[in-house]
Amino acid sequence: MTAWFEKSFGETYLELYAHRDEQEARENLRALLSHIPCDRDEPVLDLCCGAGRYLCALREMGFRQLYGLDLSETLLEAAERTLAAESSDTPCQIDLIKADMRCIPFENHFCAVLSLFSSFGYFDEDRENRVVLEGVYRALKPGGVFVLDHMNRRYVVEHLTPMDEGERQGRWVRNERRITPDGKRVEKTTIIRDDEGHEETFHESVRLYTPQELSAILIEIGFRDLGLYGGFDGQPLRPDSTRLLAIARKPEEPA
Ligand SMILES: C[S@@+](CC[C@H](N)C(=O)[O-])C[C@H]1O[C@@H](n2cnc3c(N)ncnc32)[C@H](O)[C@@H]1O
Repeated sequence: MTAWFEKSFGETYLELYAHRDEQEARENLRALLSHIPCDRDEPVLDLCCGAGRYLCALREMGFRQLYGLDLSETLLEAAERTLAAESSDTPCQIDLIKADMRCIPFENHFCAVLSLFSSFGYFDEDRENRVVLEGVYRALKPGGVFVLDHMNRRYVVEHLTPMDEGERQGRWVRNERRITPDGKRVEKTTIIRDDEGHEETFHESVRLYTPQELSAILIEIGFRDLGLYGGFDGQPLRPDSTRLLAIARKPEEPA
């Protein structure tokens, strides 16, 4: 059976999420930059890079050795086009890799690994989601930094809009959202209908972690200097924060 994340990140995703653009990526990264204490020529991985908006922003900020990993061929092709279309003053090596986030093919390599815009918690089993974090740990060089930008579970549960619908680029889009009975996942079904009545349906199912759960896993894996924030600018995490930013370091001397 094909998993939801193998089907939901194609051309239609690019259309529906067009507002999640490079400008937003630039602003988020600018706010985050003090937490990425890498020399500009050290390698940085954008894990689940999608169409490359954060890679563009990182290149603009002078990073010269970038890697983007994603499972979606369509989004990687879009990333390639965007990166080629935008000129850059500084020479920058960018490697785009098609791979599953559970199998990051690097060890002790990156100064920073970034997982941005809810690109985590996609697997049904907690064990598999943990494998992703273990892979990040392995891929970081000692002293390297991990940035995880996820949904704040409490905010999502308390502010869930069960349904909305409207027109988007000439098509009718209906979103249905629910929290699973165990409270652990948010699920979304998106139904898109065009003028001729053709329908497409997409699903998303994302594990929501409490700050305590996430901290415990990261610490168990070996991460240290863990900070949890409510946004890119380092604001404290509060129940009404829309985001949960976890920033942690692989120690110089692994535990
Ligand atoms: C919500 S999007 C975020 C993309 C990008 N980080 C951004 O901010 O625009 C999630 C991304 O995860 C990718 N993805 C989904 N499942 C994956 C997997 N198992 N392994 C690697 N990438 C995956 C999707 O293709 C998509 O690009």
